[in-house]
Order: sequence, then structure tokens, then C-alpha cells
Amino acid sequence: MSRPTIAILGAGSLGEIFARGLIRAGWEPSDIVMAARREERAREAAEHTGVETLLDAALAATGRDVVIVAVKPKDVHTLLDSCGETITSDQLVISLAAGVPLSVFEDAMPSVPVVRAMPNTPAAVDEGMTAYCAGSHADESAMARADEVLRAVGKTMQLSEDLLDAVTAVSGTGPAYIFLLAEAIGEAAVREGLPRDAAEQLVEQTLRGAGILLSESHKSPVELRAQVTSPGGTTAAAMHILEEGGFRALVEDAIRAAAQRSRDMGASAAGTD
Ligand SMILES: NC(=O)c1ccc[n+]([C@@H]2O[C@H](COP(=O)([O-])OP(=O)(O)OC[C@H]3O[C@@H](n4cnc5c(N)ncnc54)[C@H](OP(=O)(O)O)[C@@H]3O)[C@@H](O)[C@H]2O)c1
Repeated sequence: MSRPTIAILGAGSLGEIFARGLIRAGWEPSDIVMAARREERAREAAEHTGVETLLDAALAATGRDVVIVAVKPKDVHTLLDSCGETITSDQLVISLAAGVPLSVFEDAMPSVPVVRAMPNTPAAVDEGMTAYCAGSHADESAMARADEVLRAVGKTMQLSEDLLDAVTAVSGTGPAYIFLLAEAIGEAAVREGLPRDAAEQLVEQTLRGAGILLSESHKSPVELRAQVTSPGGTTAAAMHILEEGGFRALVEDAIRAAAQRSRDMGASAAGTD
């Protein structure tokens, strides 16, 4: 199967991440086109990626096998008004817009296969995690095509649409939780007397090492934590403070708030709020 040609509507940060990732995965820049809404942004995006960037989303989408929607959720309706009618049932639309339900796309483009996906920014280093779900016209070959495109920047997982708000809160927003933790540990390290650059290196490699260990050891987080927690030791002292301060409950509340925000954005996009 030859690589599908791709239009990326919305040449913002995620649009650029996908353009670059697709090129690293073997797409020719000429197989991709992006659409921006401002000339300055179009010029920047073309310079950063080497991909032609047009100011006309309908023109960019015309005739492309796959159309990736990478505008902010609030801009989806305007985008669909401008190009929904030019997209045909032999094309595949992949929406990356957080919270926006499949129904918004299917109402605007009846009979067009649509996939709704939730990627995350580690896609920039081919370590993304994207969960996606099928619209009512996305058959097996459309899903295989969606997977081929989304896999270019990391791992993929197919789930039902009702779970995508939870996915948004866990893996879509997830990198920000880790970055906040990195900041907090780094600041504490400096307060303990470590030079800032040493603190940054310690934090970076610790998060990287712990992430790889978690994914490659086939052990649960509980087992891995137990391995570094001797009775009465330093880790036990730290864990006690985190548990006493309500760390778990705080994480749970944060994830619930992110999932609810995704549901609210979806209801607002679908006009059901
Ligand atoms: N960033 C993440 O971590 C992440 C993760 C998962 C999903 N997402 C989803 O990915 C989408 C894009 O996010 P982002 O962070 O890349 O946002 P972004 O940086 O703001 O990029 C969106 C781009 O779309 C452009 N745009 C808006 N309307 C347009 C139109 N009609 N035609 C052409 N271009 C148009 C915007 O133009 P201007 O420059 O003029 O504003 C902007 O450059 C969002 O829906 C978000 O929910 C993001």
C-alpha cells in the first residue's frame, strides 16, 4: 500500500509535530500540505517543516487521501464551514481536536469516514501515545489507514468514543503532569544545594530512566516502587510525606477536572451544553 497523501489543516504546534514526524517516518514533504490562516504563520510552518503551507484549507484538503484536523476545538466549526463540502467520501478525516465529538464532523460531512484521535506532544520525538475511535463510516481499511498515519509518531490504541475524554485527561494532558513534577523536583534539588544544571540533569535522566524501566521491566509501578523503598529508609520517608499530603487524591482530582473539561468542550462544540 503506498503512503497516503496528507493535508494538515492547522499549522500550529501539533500540526508541525505531525508534519515532521510523518517526514521522519518516510513521507516525502511533497506528499504533505498544511493550511494556516495567517501568512506569517504559514511562512514559519513551511520554514520549520519544509512542507508547502497554504492559506486556503479547502484547497489544501482537495484530493488528499487523509485530512488531519489540527485546529483548536473552538475553530473546528469555522474550518468545517470553509472546507467541509470539498471533502469527499473517498477521503479520510482524522480529527485531533480535544473533546470535539465525531458527530460534529459527521453532521458537516455526511458519508465521509472520520476518526477522532487524541495524541500527545511526545509525538515530537516519536514517543507519542495516540488513542483513536472510529466514526460511523470508517471501515476497516479507513481504520488501517488512520493507524498507519498516527503510528508515524508513536504508539496507538483503538478505543470507543466515550473513553476519549478520559484519554485526554490521562495521556493527552499527561506530559504536563510530568513536566510539573520535573519542575517541582528540580526546584527542591536547588534548595537542597545542587547547582541548577546538575539538578536539571539529575531530574531529566531520572524521569527518562524511570519511564523506560516502567515500560520495559514488565513490572507494575507498585512493584517498582517497593524495590526502592526499604523499611525506615529515605524513599519511605519521602513517600510518607507525599501520601500524608494527599498526593494520590490530588492527582485523581486533577485527572477528573481535565476529563470534565474535555466533556464540557465536547458539549459546547456539539451545541448540547
Ligand atoms: N498540543 C497538545 O498537547 C495537544 C494534544 C492533543 C490534542 N491537541 C489538539 O490539537 C489541536 C491543535 O492544538 P495545538 O496545540 O497545535 O494548537 P495551535 O498551536 O493553536 O495550532 C492550531 C493552529 O490552527 C490554526 N488555524 C485555526 N483556524 C484555522 C483555519 N480555519 N485554517 C487554517 N488554520 C487554522 C491556528 O492559526 P493561528 O496561528 O492564527 O491561531 C493555529 O496556528 C487542538 O484541537 C488540540 O485540542 C493538542
